Amino acid sequence: MFDKFIRQYVTDIMSGEKDSSYAMSGKNLEDSTMMPETEETHSTDEKVDSLLSQMTLEEKITMLGGKENLGIHGLPRLNIPDVWASDASAGARCYGRATAFPVPVALAATWSRDLQKQTGQAIGEECRAKGVSVLLGPGVNIYRVPTNGRNFEYMGEDPYLASELVVPYIQGVQSRGVITTVKHFACNNSDYDRHRMNSEVDERTLHEIYFPAFKAAVQKGKSKSVMCAYNPVNGVYASENKELLTDVLRNQWGFTGFVISDWTCVYSAEGPVKAGLDLEMPFGKYMNSKKLLPLLKKGKITEAMIDEKIRNMMRAFFETGAYSRSRKDSSFREYSKAHSLISLQAAREAPVLLKNDGILPLDRDRIRKIVLMGFNALETTSCGGGSCHIKSYDKVNIIDGIRKILPEETQIDCIAGNRGVYTLTESDKKLIQEADKVIFSAGFSNVEESECWDRSWQLPFRQDRLIKETAALNPELVVLLTAGGGVETESWLKETRALLHTFYLGENTGTAIAEILFGDVNPSGKLPFTMGRKWEDFGTTDNYVRKPDKISMMRIIGPQGVRGYRRIRTVKYKEKLMVGYRHFDTAGIKPQFPFGYGLSYTDFTISNVSLSKLSIKDGESTELTLQVQNTGNREGAEVVQLYIADDEASLIRPEKELKGFEKVYLKPGESQTVSFTISSEELSFYDPEKKDWRAEAGSFTLMTGNSSRSIYSETRLELID
Ligand code: BGC
Repeated sequence: MFDKFIRQYVTDIMSGEKDSSYAMSGKNLEDSTMMPETEETHSTDEKVDSLLSQMTLEEKITMLGGKENLGIHGLPRLNIPDVWASDASAGARCYGRATAFPVPVALAATWSRDLQKQTGQAIGEECRAKGVSVLLGPGVNIYRVPTNGRNFEYMGEDPYLASELVVPYIQGVQSRGVITTVKHFACNNSDYDRHRMNSEVDERTLHEIYFPAFKAAVQKGKSKSVMCAYNPVNGVYASENKELLTDVLRNQWGFTGFVISDWTCVYSAEGPVKAGLDLEMPFGKYMNSKKLLPLLKKGKITEAMIDEKIRNMMRAFFETGAYSRSRKDSSFREYSKAHSLISLQAAREAPVLLKNDGILPLDRDRIRKIVLMGFNALETTSCGGGSCHIKSYDKVNIIDGIRKILPEETQIDCIAGNRGVYTLTESDKKLIQEADKVIFSAGFSNVEESECWDRSWQLPFRQDRLIKETAALNPELVVLLTAGGGVETESWLKETRALLHTFYLGENTGTAIAEILFGDVNPSGKLPFTMGRKWEDFGTTDNYVRKPDKISMMRIIGPQGVRGYRRIRTVKYKEKLMVGYRHFDTAGIKPQFPFGYGLSYTDFTISNVSLSKLSIKDGESTELTLQVQNTGNREGAEVVQLYIADDEASLIRPEKELKGFEKVYLKPGESQTVSFTISSEELSFYDPEKKDWRAEAGSFTLMTGNSSRSIYSETRLELID
């Protein structure tokens, strides 16, 4: 009961329905033409140094703590403007409405680098129109357990997939002069008690599973900012973890941007300054003169350390133009039809058809009566809760999308439209029995599935029971799943004739789902995570909390600064590399739906697989080529996936790992050649002894298919010394 109240209270603050400093939905940024005077001919470093040399120590320290929740201090005395940030990955959420794009896990399900880029560009443009120069996204924490309340904000369970998808997103945003902040570095793999959950992870697992997407984001994507996580990693808070913020990020990966704290994730002054944190948000609780001047006096920290932090920020602001343009740019639009169309296209390509015994696509001319069930059918949740939640201009609910596509005379009835446990009445039962088809929209809302807590593995409000009761009344049942990840399906899956995972699809949810249900769009999404049959089947759930959806105010906002509340709890990542399909496939456990899986209304074949060289040396590469053909009679898209297995490794390696994918769009009968380049990079693992990646000579199996469990061809490759 109390839980319910807390959830609703926090959701209201975060959802932007009310104006709050948190969502900043009611505030509009004012335009500003303030720009520091610098010599045109000077390099960025010279410009930064010239400004730094004119700043007092106090002024410098002020810049290290945020302003009014989302601002980064400027200095009017030197005409240095404030820089403003906005959340985040599914749209430019702050300062008024924005286009709501499908959430990151949905975008990941499209497996489309191109859609990532287009989405990034559109969000970047909306930021520029609003006066925002720093986007507080994208998020790339790995999907470790299905119940993490923020899985919807991340890009799935596979480090390669997340790396490939985050890069074009970042390039898209930053091409519009807006800095991306890749988050939450590192191992923020659940939101349950996030201030206190220490992630204990060995070095190899960090480098192979939890780091790659961050590494790609800074090295290939060139993200100019990184946000550190709330949680401690191996016993040290991320915000004061030198190994993470300096040794790995700057020294190993060559990051030259700035590190920003997550909101209220700084727990002391000296540690973060030394570890490599540049900016404390939302304000300088620790990064202020009162705390830092005594440390400077005692010689615990130096002014050079503070200068370095300001350099990191200012360099990025000069490089992106935030210091050399008016804050707002009227040539960009806060909202445009073009952006909504990008969001719609992503919403069409994201849903994953998990089961279909032939009932889909539905024939709109043969349905006289249809029943829609579930709260999401009526008031559709377009995004999970928390700082990702977007208040959009328009939102198409599932019922609106279906109504629009069906002939006017079709009778549409709605049942169980309120969030909560529902008991069917006699008249509901009659409607269900008389319907030609029943569409049950099951899943979560942004209250149950949200930042700040984890959610249940079972469908909430006993929807599993309601699905079974409905199926007993009318077997012509299709279930839609609104969720940020996998849920328990084993107990009710056989009761439904089709199951479509729809994630949270943004403002055009209803349109995209209706188009798929009625066959105007052929589904092409593929799972970016594994759906297990049982909770115990995951390699990770043993090493996690017992009641993930249990919440308390203390777990949400309590612990910062109050030592007594800060008793750390450790989650040991004992499964090591065996996350998601790496575990299911290595341990030989049958998943409900494997990673990379998704059905289509057409059929594809993969054939003519060939390898340009059967053996390579370190430094060489080989080309794997194959043909994909659409052998059915509908246009569609297939995602060809390349997995690699190390046949004889000196260290334990997962049974197979994704190392390439390509999405191909084909008309009936059409075929296309796809090729993957394989070098020792794709064959290597992280060797903790050498503290580096290396590939071992020997034989590797290259597998191509359309999920981690449907492999069409296997080819052998030899890496020779
Ligand atoms: C979230 C961040 C977000 C920040 C600012 C925090 O609660 O963890 O992801 O960017 O708030 O809204």
